[in-house]
Amino acid sequence: MNNILIVKHLKEIYHDHDKEFVALDNISFTIAKGEILSLLGPNGAGKTTTVSIIGGYLIPTSGKVMMNGQDITTTNKRPSIGVSFGGEMGFYRKATARQNLMFFADLAKVPYRQQKDEVARVLDIVELGNVANKKTGEFSKGMTQRLHIARALLGNPSLLLLDEPTSGLDVEIAKSVQDTVKNLAAAGISILLTSHTMSEVEKLADRVVILGAGKVFYDGTVSGVVKLASDHTGRQLTTLEDSYLALAPKLRRK
Ligand SMILES: Nc1ncnc2c1ncn2[C@@H]1O[C@H](COP(=O)(O)OP(=O)(O)OP(=O)(O)O)[C@@H](O)[C@H]1O
Ligand SMILES: [Mg+2]
Repeated sequence: MNNILIVKHLKEIYHDHDKEFVALDNISFTIAKGEILSLLGPNGAGKTTTVSIIGGYLIPTSGKVMMNGQDITTTNKRPSIGVSFGGEMGFYRKATARQNLMFFADLAKVPYRQQKDEVARVLDIVELGNVANKKTGEFSKGMTQRLHIARALLGNPSLLLLDEPTSGLDVEIAKSVQDTVKNLAAAGISILLTSHTMSEVEKLADRVVILGAGKVFYDGTVSGVVKLASDHTGRQLTTLEDSYLALAPKLRRK
């Protein structure tokens, strides 16, 4: 298998005052080249924690993340991973989209002489080229979300981590973000996407990993989830949403 990423036995324990909280409990999965893997699970299941560890923002209590054969949890060499958590924060509101991305291109170690072209390239991918000179403080939610993806694309990473990339977007903008994600995967970029929108996951994901209470509850295809839920309920389910809802009680933290 041409796995670009291998996540092995990840455990994350948060310390809340003197109490321990096991956010991730022995999480393992892989992502292949050009694959769209969707990480699902209820609020608090551990999706963002997993994305944070793979992205290098959080050190796991134990376990490892291998990328191209190297354990990236113990190296400070930044591998080729682009991360987008989205949200309203993250950009300097008084600067233009281009100025913001020039700053992040530098952080992403894009060579100085390529920065201008690289910023134009990523703005083009997310269809923000025509508003490159607009201040990001004047951006709508959808524009900001697409700018987050553009930022994650700087330096042409081979793996993209997108935490709820379409949350809060209108249907049309969400569709354009989904199309962008599809195109990037078709170009060979691997994508880990978290989402609460089952119709979106159904359209995009080659595979889904469902987390429940910090553990991997399911790892397989969308049709596999539908079959599992149908067997579980004794009803013939058809959509991922109905199937997910049928399994949801099993995913709650005790
Ligand atoms: N810094 C922290 N300190 C303590 N507990 C935390 C911290 N960050 C997350 N948690 C807890 O860890 C669990 C997993 O959180 P995480 O944000 O990974 O969930 P999630 O699957 O992304 O949820 P959502 O769908 O709401 O985004 C939650 O119970 C959360 O309260
Ligand atoms: Mg989250």
